[in-house]
Amino acid sequence: MTRFHQPVMLSEVLTFLAVRPDGVYVDCTLGGGGHAAAVLACLGPEGRLIGLDRDPDALAFARERLGSDARVRLVQANFACLSEVLRDLGLTEVDGILYDLGVSSYQLDQPERGFTYRSADAPLDMRFDPSSPLSAADLVNRLGEEELRRIIATYGEERWAKRIARFIVRARSREPFSTTGQLVEVIKEAIPASSRRRGPHPARRTFQALRIAVNRELESLELSLPQAAEHLRLGGRLVILSYHSLEDRLVKEFFRRTPVLRPLTKKPLRPSPQELERNPRASSCKLRAAEKILISEGGE
Ligand SMILES: C[S@@+](CC[C@H](N)C(=O)[O-])C[C@H]1O[C@@H](n2cnc3c(N)ncnc32)[C@H](O)[C@@H]1O
Repeated sequence: MTRFHQPVMLSEVLTFLAVRPDGVYVDCTLGGGGHAAAVLACLGPEGRLIGLDRDPDALAFARERLGSDARVRLVQANFACLSEVLRDLGLTEVDGILYDLGVSSYQLDQPERGFTYRSADAPLDMRFDPSSPLSAADLVNRLGEEELRRIIATYGEERWAKRIARFIVRARSREPFSTTGQLVEVIKEAIPASSRRRGPHPARRTFQALRIAVNRELESLELSLPQAAEHLRLGGRLVILSYHSLEDRLVKEFFRRTPVLRPLTKKPLRPSPQELERNPRASSCKLRAAEKILISEGGE
């Protein structure tokens, strides 16, 4: 069954975007179009909404929901190419830019995309854009043990990364990985039973790590943020929802070293307890926002 992705921290996102009815807004991670629909509802007839997603399925889904509105332009693109997308649309400045990073419930709920450890027979894929060259199976079958360990430890913050990498390399010498179920079984073997009984699903961290690596998620964000800062008009707003400590750190550092951005959140905002009760998938979310300001030649 297909479910809408519940937009995370929606009222906070709208508050920080401070949508002007005649403004131009970019949703860099359209997904199911939840945030985008809410922004659109704040726009008047002169306003415009640009939506990007790498995933052609997400785009088709959002197009059903928003595509018939003449104020909306939806583009299949990596937000690492934000400047190019805006240039192709004849835009130089926009009023607000939103990133809601990571994977959507819609993608997780489609087992054939390979994002979920809850389905045994799915292909081990995890690509946002199915035309990109390497799937999760390619990484798991080809990377050296040390590189696998590094990815699982860094992007998954998994304390058993070394054992998982070792078990993966041993298992693939018998049979290459092709399904999510095969990987889940090997991860379960690698993590000692006492640790497996506590906390989330034992494969959760490794799956997250592989997804981040397959889609080069941090690299895309790092490339995109300077473009976002460049294209905001003075007073324009940048709002970013991140779900991983490395993403949040990257955003925080970027705000710190970008003088034209004045942070509006001293510390990242977290979802309210009421939201977390309704939507546990929001639990790791952190929101940071900034405003574009004028820097005089003296640097102040
Ligand atoms: C958390 S979901 C967004 C959900 C959306 N805000 C909503 O309310 O439905 C993240 C989306 O960003 C997309 N995405 C991730 N990295 C991307 C990138 N580098 N460029 C464009 N889209 C990306 C994913 O395909 C996914 O659809």
